[in-house]
Amino acid sequence: MFLKALTAAVSLSGLTQQALAKQPNILFVLTDDQDLHMHSLDYMPLLQKYLVKEGTLFLKHFCTVAICCPSRVNLWTGRAAHNTNVTDVWPPYGGYPKVVSQGINDNYLPTWLQDAGYNTYYSGKLWNAHSVDNYNAPYASGFNGSDFLLDPYTYDYLNAYMTRNGAPPASYIGQYSPDITAAKAATFLDEALTHKDRPWFVVHAPVAPHSNFQLKGVQESDAPRYADRHAHLFKDYKIPRTENFNPEKQGGVSWIKNLPRLNQTVIDYSDEFQRSRLRALQAVDESLEQLIQKIENAGELDNTYIFYTTDNGYHISQYRFHPGKECGFDTDINIPLIVRGPGIPAGRISTAVTAHTDLASTILSLAGVTRDDFDGIPIPLNAKEERNGRHDHVTIEFWGLGIPEGKWGNYGDENMEDGLGFEAHAAGNNTYKGLRIVSEEYSLYYSVWCTNETELYDVKNDPHQLRNLLSDEHVSSASKFTIAGRPLKHILPRLDALVLVLKSCKGKTCTQPWKVLHPDSEVESLIDSLKPRFDTFYHSQPKVSFSKCERGYIKESEGPLEAKQYTSDAFDTIIEPALQKQGSARSFQYRGQLGWWT
Ligand SMILES: *[C@@H]1O[C@H](CO)[C@@H](O)[C@H](O)[C@H]1NC(C)=O
Ligand SMILES: *[C@@H]1O[C@H](CO)[C@@H](O)[C@H](O)[C@H]1NC(C)=O
Ligand SMILES: *[C@@H]1O[C@H](CO)[C@@H](O)[C@H](O)[C@H]1NC(C)=O
Ligand SMILES: *[C@@H]1O[C@H](CO)[C@@H](O)[C@H](O)[C@H]1NC(C)=O
Ligand SMILES: *[C@@H]1O[C@H](CO)[C@@H](O)[C@H](O)[C@H]1NC(C)=O
Repeated sequence: MFLKALTAAVSLSGLTQQALAKQPNILFVLTDDQDLHMHSLDYMPLLQKYLVKEGTLFLKHFCTVAICCPSRVNLWTGRAAHNTNVTDVWPPYGGYPKVVSQGINDNYLPTWLQDAGYNTYYSGKLWNAHSVDNYNAPYASGFNGSDFLLDPYTYDYLNAYMTRNGAPPASYIGQYSPDITAAKAATFLDEALTHKDRPWFVVHAPVAPHSNFQLKGVQESDAPRYADRHAHLFKDYKIPRTENFNPEKQGGVSWIKNLPRLNQTVIDYSDEFQRSRLRALQAVDESLEQLIQKIENAGELDNTYIFYTTDNGYHISQYRFHPGKECGFDTDINIPLIVRGPGIPAGRISTAVTAHTDLASTILSLAGVTRDDFDGIPIPLNAKEERNGRHDHVTIEFWGLGIPEGKWGNYGDENMEDGLGFEAHAAGNNTYKGLRIVSEEYSLYYSVWCTNETELYDVKNDPHQLRNLLSDEHVSSASKFTIAGRPLKHILPRLDALVLVLKSCKGKTCTQPWKVLHPDSEVESLIDSLKPRFDTFYHSQPKVSFSKCERGYIKESEGPLEAKQYTSDAFDTIIEPALQKQGSARSFQYRGQLGWWT
């Protein structure tokens, strides 16, 4: 199935190359912390007009690590976080110094695109912990023109510091950050358009709609600032009162299950917080129109792909959370992606399962470069390729803290004072592995936490992820749950084995994990794996577990790393008959918390 998908991508870029006389241009807009689930896209009229109506909206697009820096590294490298080992926003596990020490500054999409003949430009936030002190040690590689927002001022909307092409940081005090980065992106676009001989890659990465704060000293985070011209908007907006909004019954595990319900003061603050986010996004919306009109005026629109996405999703009051991200619920991982360009159907909604891991290879294949060493594969850009044997899973991973934002935010345990001195009472033990898997037949989220707790949501029937089928409370729903006629006790070992493969996958094993488990059989999907003849094999797999909660990717604490492989010889002819002879074949105890299985 990998081959099929790859061939499709190659033939698309082949088609593209024929249809277009030269390599296409790419405009990439990357917002910060934008939600899909509170419907922020519906409040961006120009994005609707120029992108949603003219391009394809990917409704099942996911980030794989729900926090800025690790997610951006995943996006710009096409590699899973466990392979980049950039897993946090700060050193020692993440941030710009870690990006540099991992060799990523010289080996990521911008440098590859330059090698492919592109002029590349970037305006806005690149990484975290990319600061007024280290911006030149070394300077970020890969750009013909760049102007980066720098810490500790990145989130200080009216007090930005930026470095242009390596010059000492300039202060923009009093000016509105998303407008500044938009203007700079427009200037870079002008420059790119003057070089008719080379295709270009222009990125606008505004800080909106991230919360507002300064990473220096003790300062509360608060709603993002918006431009005065947008202050009158959305006065009646309220966060959708979905079933997971400040729920009476909490579904999550670990620190989440014990969160107190939010009171009216916090709810009112949260509604205004989201209104401010929508207002902050208006500056991005306006800049989209300006950028696209420039491309059109230059006669390049038919030769340009436009990508619009964000680094990670966002929650505000769902699951009783203060504003923030870092969690595995769809609010945090299922994010906007819209692509417009030659050969991409207009006004189309795609439900192909795609992830940030796929975007580097998508863009490179549009540029005519094929590489098969990525942890993702190109996303299907038209209806023909949509299902075409594409895998249906996304690997979700997270290490570290759950950090509350907003002035009421407090999760009690950890004082997050690493970084540059910003303090927040975060939740520790927010380290987990997740699997999101979606097809016509099922839609599931399965996770294993560093505390060894587990979750499974039947997202098809429980779209707001409130009923953990692995908790004692939901034993009766769990006992009725089936896929392809097989009960949960046989499904779960398959999901767990899949996570076991994915948590240390690399290259093709990330997109073809079933081949690792079944090197010489025809199993290519969850449904195939559910055949009863594989039951013994799956129940004999080591289980995903952690020996302790760590803040980063410490291999020794992450339990078993390798799955057993199915070989028909060993299992059909030796183990299964032997077990049956002993009469013990069907007595399985999976995890202590699931006593009802034995
Ligand atoms: C990831 O980086 C951290 C911090 O440098 C290091 O302690 C850890 O061993 C690394 N993990 C792996 C698997 O290389
Ligand atoms: C952009 O940078 C690349 C790589 O250094 C270089 O080959 C190319 O000539 C530059 N383009 C312009 C317009 O200077
Ligand atoms: C509401 O909750 C916040 C945060 O937990 C708390 O600080 C505040 O005192 C509460 N306000 C009221 C009116 O109960
Ligand atoms: C999780 O389970 C594994 C395997 O049973 C065990 O070795 C480990 O100590 C457990 N970890 C925690 C944090 O309880
Ligand atoms: C974190 O998990 C460990 C088990 O690994 C547990 O002992 C500890 O109490 C947990 N801490 C918090 C704050 O929940």
